[in-house]
Amino acid sequence: MNPVRNALRLAAMYAIAAATSAHALSAHAGGHAYRLDNAAYRQECGSCHVAFPPKLLAAPSWRAVMEGLDIHFGDDATLEPAVQREIATWLEANAGRRDTSAIGKPLLRITATPWFRKEHRREIEAGVQRRPEVKSFANCGACHTGADRGDYSERGIRVPGGRPR
Ligand code: HEC
Ligand code: HEC
Repeated sequence: MNPVRNALRLAAMYAIAAATSAHALSAHAGGHAYRLDNAAYRQECGSCHVAFPPKLLAAPSWRAVMEGLDIHFGDDATLEPAVQREIATWLEANAGRRDTSAIGKPLLRITATPWFRKEHRREIEAGVQRRPEVKSFANCGACHTGADRGDYSERGIRVPGGRPR
């Protein structure tokens, strides 16, 4: 297909996806609702796992993730160049301000950041990722029932097998 038509087709597709996901930003979730209002991002980066909140990594981390999509945690998550640029720009514009690097290198994982490890300290100490319904801390939706909408509020937390104390 010719590249211009292809880009237009993609733009139309994403406009439809955006219209049908207008509820993406939950207004009543309190302090832990994150914006996921980019249809291309939700579609392309929310198929293998939830579309992670951009605020939870700093811009250099998102840049590093987006520059390494061909070797993405053992998967190939390569995108068409125009889509990749759109998503990368949006992620960096909506990135968090908190530094997410370690020994001078940007971390690629939210789950490796000190903030995440502190917030989930009890679950990490209890090894809940070994529970079959959890499998990985990157599987946010296993415990945050609103993760696909960017809603991480306390109300929506259900740890499979119970919350460790
Ligand atoms: C083909 C499947 C696939 C696609 C598409 C994909 N990912 Fe991933 N992603 C993975 C896998 C697998 C992991 C590792 C999950 C784990 O450790 O449990 C991962 C992990 C991640 C992590 C780290 C999670 C953490 O904090 O531990 C980030 C950030 C991420 N992906 C961003 C993206 C972005 C941005 C896109 C879109 C450009 C994307 N992914 C598209 C498969 C995919
Ligand atoms: C094994 C279950 C589990 C997984 C998987 C998990 N979380 Fe959590 N998360 C929790 C629990 C439990 C809390 C509440 C911790 C506390 O306050 O003691 C929490 C708290 C949070 C909070 C703060 C919410 C608040 O109201 O204070 C955010 C934001 C969050 N998690 C994001 C994530 C993201 C993003 C992922 C995936 C990358 C993730 N979590 C994966 C269980 C989980």
